[in-house]
This record gives sequence, structure tokens and C-alpha cells, in this order.
Amino acid sequence: MAIRLGDLAPNFTAQTTEGEIDFHQWLGNGWGILFSHPRDYTPVCTTELGTASKMKAEFDQRGVKVIAVSIDPIDDHHGWICDINETQGTKMNFPIIADPTRNVANLYDMIHPNADDTATVRSVFIIGPDKKIKLTLTYPASTGRNFLELLRVIDSLQLTAKFKVATPANWEDGQDCIIVTAVKDADVPGLFPKGSRTVKPYLRFTPQPNR
Ligand code: BEZ
Repeated sequence: MAIRLGDLAPNFTAQTTEGEIDFHQWLGNGWGILFSHPRDYTPVCTTELGTASKMKAEFDQRGVKVIAVSIDPIDDHHGWICDINETQGTKMNFPIIADPTRNVANLYDMIHPNADDTATVRSVFIIGPDKKIKLTLTYPASTGRNFLELLRVIDSLQLTAKFKVATPANWEDGQDCIIVTAVKDADVPGLFPKGSRTVKPYLRFTPQPNR
């Protein structure tokens, strides 16, 4: 069954490269990103894990824990991490789940049989502090993910969880935001003291409230 936005992130226990975890306990009260890799010792995945590892401080700053999953066994993961560190100029700093039984892959519907009936696709799940799914992404095996885009979405999710705003197309942290339509015009000055700009009654902008 596909995982949808707002669903509770399925819990599981699993062996990882940093020891056994109960996923919900590991998440704690913060945000998390779970992303899948088709196989160990594959080129695109190697660059993705190296990139995510080099960007770990950015995820830490936002209170987001990062974890990867692949259906290969733990010994393969450990060997592959040596290659990732060597080739990507990094030191892996987050866990990779070993999922040889495909428990996690099945719980999160990461195997799409019409793409590949054995390996997982490149799934991404962003999970909020309430353990609910805030974003799902599915990429083909041939396309490495853009981790800057994941940070951008996290910035938007964390902002819109606190303020009555949404973020426009291609928005980046620091740019103007959209005032949600549920906010009455009369309430705008009180809620958005930095000011507002009305383009259409349903399209109102305000400077980013927390910057
Ligand atoms: C890769 O990570 O390079 C990859 C994995 C599975 C299929 C195609 C590419």
C-alpha cells in the first residue's frame, strides 16, 4: 500500500551500520529523512551518499536526522562505505539500514515492480516531529537526487508549520512568502507586521516572517 502525505510513518526495527534501531525511537521528537538506494556498490548511489554525508551539517542545523536504506546486507554496507569515503572525499556520518528481507522496502512501497522487481527505486520520505509523512518523492534509478532541493523543502515545511504562509514556485529561504488564503485581509497586519503586497485577492505576499 502506497504511503501518502499525512500518513503515520510505519515503524520498524532494523539493523543499520550504526547498530540496531527502532525507527520511531531513533527519530525522537525531531524531523527525519528516509531515502532508499537500489543497490550497494552502484555509481549513482555512491555519489548520493557522499553528497548527503558532506551536507550533514545542513540537516543537523535544521534538526533533521538522515537515514538511508538498501536491500543489501550489512557487511556489504560496511565495505561500500569504505568506497564512498574514498571516492567522495567524505566520512559517512549517518546510518544505512540493511534490509535484506525487504521489510522496510515493503512497508514504504519502495519496490515498484514495473520499474524493477528486485531493487528499490530512489524513494525519499520527509517525516515530521509528529511522525507523519510530509513529503514523498520517487526518482528513477538512473537519476541521482538533488539534496539541495530536499533542504529547500525542509525550510518550507518548517516555515509553513509555524506561520500561516505557503512558499511559491522555486522559493528559496529568505524570499517572500504567500499568505494562505484562509487568513482574512483584516488579520494580515497583525499576523504579518513586516507588511504585505496584494496581487490578487487570493495572491498576497509577505516578507519571510522568520527572517
Ligand atoms: C546507480 O546507483 O548507479 C544505479 C543503481 C541501480 C540502477 C542504475 C543505477
